[in-house]
Amino acid sequence: MADFDYDVLVIGAGPGGYVAAIRAAQLGLKTACAESRETLGGTCLNVGCIPSKAMLHASEYYDAAKNGAMAHMGVEVEPRLNLDQMHAQRRDAVKQLTGGIEFLFKKNKVTWLKGLATFKDAHSVVVGGDTVTAKNIVIATGSSVTPLPGVQIDEKVVVSSTGALELPKVPEHMVVIGGGVIGLELGSVWRRLGAKVTCVEYLDEILPGMDGDIRKEARKIFKKQGFEFKLGTKVTGVTVNGDKATLTMEPAKGGDAETLEADCVLVSIGRKPNTDGLGLENIGLETNKRGQIETDHDFRTAVDGVWAIGDVVPGPMLAHKAEDEGIAVAENIAGLTGIVNHAIIPGVVYTWPEIAGVGLTTEEAKEQYGEIKVGKFPMLGNSRAKTNHEPDGFVKVISDAKSDRVLGVWCIAVPAGTMIAQAAQAMEFGATSEDIAYTCHAHPTHSEAIKEAAMAVQGKPIHI
Ligand code: FAD
Ligand code: NAI
Repeated sequence: MADFDYDVLVIGAGPGGYVAAIRAAQLGLKTACAESRETLGGTCLNVGCIPSKAMLHASEYYDAAKNGAMAHMGVEVEPRLNLDQMHAQRRDAVKQLTGGIEFLFKKNKVTWLKGLATFKDAHSVVVGGDTVTAKNIVIATGSSVTPLPGVQIDEKVVVSSTGALELPKVPEHMVVIGGGVIGLELGSVWRRLGAKVTCVEYLDEILPGMDGDIRKEARKIFKKQGFEFKLGTKVTGVTVNGDKATLTMEPAKGGDAETLEADCVLVSIGRKPNTDGLGLENIGLETNKRGQIETDHDFRTAVDGVWAIGDVVPGPMLAHKAEDEGIAVAENIAGLTGIVNHAIIPGVVYTWPEIAGVGLTTEEAKEQYGEIKVGKFPMLGNSRAKTNHEPDGFVKVISDAKSDRVLGVWCIAVPAGTMIAQAAQAMEFGATSEDIAYTCHAHPTHSEAIKEAAMAVQGKPIHI
């Protein structure tokens, strides 16, 4: 048998890749991880989850002080925005967390190979001019911004999410192209800091893929906060003149074109898998129509010894999905049984309030199960939310009418991202709505709304 430099070589050190590398090393495999960025952690830690949450968290405080929410609770302050400091604390969070991964690599004896990795053959890769061989190679190259034809991203006036995290001043008018997760999260940041924000969405409703009721309610809440929406509208081009942009748009279903002026345009119409420069042609591995690498249930690609995980494979482009796949692929390589249940992957939009869901939407559940039961509970009826002056949102529990097994849970609530964990766990254990309804929940917590929504499935909530 051929001698390899490594048992496992992971390409990409995002949440998929770095977790796979650490787990493989923990399982006694000699492991290296190639990364072309200067720092570890991938999109998530460098320009994604972490810096966006740093800006969301800080801007939430500013907004609460500015919009009277704090004064209402007897804390009177006149906030003054120090945007440089807000950016500094964001950069500090990124530095600490990416440095943390470097520490974990050292601790677990994962070798970091610096540079862009390109396949030579199925067991060898060129990284930074050197050829490295491995018995198993895991592709975890992630994703990058989907460009919009006719729109040039300059990261100054027309920005991607990366530029939108770093704006040196608050725009007067920001137009967000795409009413998905990035548009609503980063649009929220700049709206809170004083920008007028218009969101142009191609479809008739924002947040595609989420439960229908949730999408509608979320838009109502964002509108109340000051977002403007142009739904069913397609952006056909953006021209930049100095520090101003002009967008041309037309109704998605046809009609007269119109224009819109802005001093910042955020292009957030989705992300595409990263396979350019990887040399997939050298190993005969093809991507599907969406540019993704297909794998089997164990994350094996069509090429022996080559595995793939994270944003570069089908499924939701989420850090926790990539991480779980990272653990599973390492365990499969080590001869254990690594499994990811793709039916139960929670999704969270970190706005105020947060929006979260797991499992099937009402629409999907009806289609797949025919008869379903739905229980809804408004946050207005939740004592903690009411006391905290957080009346917006609701929880919805969907179950199979025959077995009562929970098929999906959806929440709009300030801490919805934290609340959804219990729903995911209950669903992993095959819970019925009755199981949730009879689980004792601490009082007063927002999570009691999940219990009450489950009781509503049974037709007997207490507090509405
Ligand atoms: P990535 O994190 O993209 O990492 C891949 C790495 O591979 C990159 O560092 C890249 O430089 C490297 N690479 C690529 N090609 C090569 C090569 N040939 N050689 C060497 N290295 C290579 N998800 C959430 O779950 N929660 C959130 O709150 C959230 N917020 C987000 C906010 C923003 C603004 C964005 C853009 C994304 C957000 N995401 C969030 C999505 C999340 O970042 C991704 O799902 C996640 O990072 C995917 O992990 P990954 O390991 O597959 O890829
Ligand atoms: P998205 O897929 O969430 O939303 C893109 C939106 O743009 C869709 O609503 C789509 O209909 C619309 N659109 C497409 N073309 C358009 C056009 N020409 N004109 C107007 N609208 C158009 O993509 P987004 O927001 O860019 O995020 C990319 C990915 O990053 C997400 O899929 C998500 O997985 C991940 N992410 C996750 C976060 C989280 O978990 N909190 C936060 C940020 C990103």
